[in-house]
Amino acid sequence: MVELTKTGIDGLDEILNGGIVSHSTTLLSGPPGAGKSVLALQYIYNGVEESGEKGVYLSFEEDSEDLRQAAESLGFDNWQHHVETGDIKVYDKQVLLRETDFNASLELLLDELDGEDYQRLVLDSLSMFGLFFDEERERRTYLLKFLDILAENGLTTLMTTEQEAVFPDKDIGMENFLTDGNIYLLQTPTETGVNRYIWVAKMRKKNVQTDIFPMEISHGGITVHENASAFSMLNEDDSLLQ
Ligand SMILES: Nc1ncnc2c1ncn2[C@@H]1O[C@H](COP(=O)(O)OP(=O)(O)OP(=O)(O)O)[C@@H](O)[C@H]1O
Ligand SMILES: [Mg+2]
Repeated sequence: MVELTKTGIDGLDEILNGGIVSHSTTLLSGPPGAGKSVLALQYIYNGVEESGEKGVYLSFEEDSEDLRQAAESLGFDNWQHHVETGDIKVYDKQVLLRETDFNASLELLLDELDGEDYQRLVLDSLSMFGLFFDEERERRTYLLKFLDILAENGLTTLMTTEQEAVFPDKDIGMENFLTDGNIYLLQTPTETGVNRYIWVAKMRKKNVQTDIFPMEISHGGITVHENASAFSMLNEDDSLLQ
């Protein structure tokens, strides 16, 4: 039996047939505003609240105060409490750039993660993480090192990445191949707002529902509607996969 980690997100664990594969790394892709950070926050928060699992949130975009505000706006009222008790550990840009160079902070971080008792990790975002390196080769070296440390310590990880199209023209890099799972968040504009969708494209070692499902973001976070017919939506909305 493959061990599973529940996201605690209504509808998502159902389409994942129980949750994401524990000790694996899942890539969470989508355009700006698609809900990647919301999903990531919810994953870490639910870990503590519902599964008694401690989480690390590496934020290369928002600082810890932004994260706190985002969490509280979503109704994750105990976020700050968990940060204070250490059940949630936030490393933001300021912390990560405290050392004279980024590699030095990264080494410190990797040391700290190694052997500590965390079960969940979020890296938000891989796109921004990449910008801290001058050279592609260095970025890859660190990414591989990172994935090694995560695997050695049994962390179950979500890495967000900004991606405009599901099938982009340009090379999408090696991240897709290094990760065990792939979840895409999609959005299409409507007259009154946006329609949001989620697609679990890949989950190694695991049978999942690979249709595209509608989702919502509101107070309480993301809710996935697993009972809608994905196929008819795709027909209605040709722009979805372009
Ligand atoms: N408390 C809330 N209530 C309702 N909707 C919210 C709430 N908080 C965020 N949202 C919605 O979620 C969207 C932002 O999602 P999020 O920040 O997760 O995007 P993202 O995919 O991380 O984008 P980026 O690539 O820019 O970081 C907002 O545009 C907003 O519509
Ligand atoms: Mg974000």
